[in-house]
Amino acid sequence: MVSADKSLGLQINFYNERRCRVEGLMGRRALGKINAQLDLTRHLFQSDGLPQPWDPQKIFSTNCLPEVEIGSGKGLFLQRHGTARPEKNLLGIEISLKYARFAASRLARSKVDNARVVHADARHVFSEIFPDASLAAVHIYFPDPWWKKRHHKRRLLNPDFVAQLSRTIIRGGHLHFWTDVEETFTAGLAALETDARLDGPQEVIATQAVHDLDYQTHFERRMRLSGKKIYRSKFVRL
Ligand SMILES: C[S@@+](CC[C@H](N)C(=O)[O-])C[C@H]1O[C@@H](n2cnc3c(N)ncnc32)[C@H](O)[C@@H]1O
Repeated sequence: MVSADKSLGLQINFYNERRCRVEGLMGRRALGKINAQLDLTRHLFQSDGLPQPWDPQKIFSTNCLPEVEIGSGKGLFLQRHGTARPEKNLLGIEISLKYARFAASRLARSKVDNARVVHADARHVFSEIFPDASLAAVHIYFPDPWWKKRHHKRRLLNPDFVAQLSRTIIRGGHLHFWTDVEETFTAGLAALETDARLDGPQEVIATQAVHDLDYQTHFERRMRLSGKKIYRSKFVRL
């Protein structure tokens, strides 16, 4: 039997591949093979493997409050940000097992020791696992847009989930939300503005990419190389 999480993850993969064909974007390249010898036990978790009650020190080396990336895809952000900021702890939440495994293998291979991936639905992890004021920041890059009206309820940024974000981010912590889809951006900002504890949107200035992987995420790279506009915003938890 296919679990609800798995079924949503499979639909999302199918949807992303179709989106590339419809929009004529550079396709999502097939995932490279994961070296079977690679030990993923430090980097990859299932949601029932996360500490309950929540305690970051049980999965990271320090008790520093983690930054969370929702929908970490191939894990470029976790690898780059984790390498650049070794003092931070980063947790990617990814609903697709094949992408969660791929991102974890990228971290294990490049020996990024302050970043982890959990294979789970972010909505479950936020509502069931993270306590109040337990996250230093949340990053949401290129969430699935779910264009069809009947699928809008699947969109990540809705008032209920926004309440979970502002409950879990510490005061002064940041929420980053980027997308290439104008409608997703407008609807996401409208949802975020329902919570007075999130101050924004603040403008984010794009930096120039210096080399091939010098992008925030894989989707940012694809969209920029395809010449697509990117909508970026940042909120601060008051
Ligand atoms: C369009 S991709 C963007 C990936 C990455 N953020 C990037 O910018 O390259 C969206 C990702 O979010 C994941 N995703 C969608 N819904 C999710 C959920 N409820 N919880 C966790 N991950 C989710 C998808 O499996 C997919 O990998």
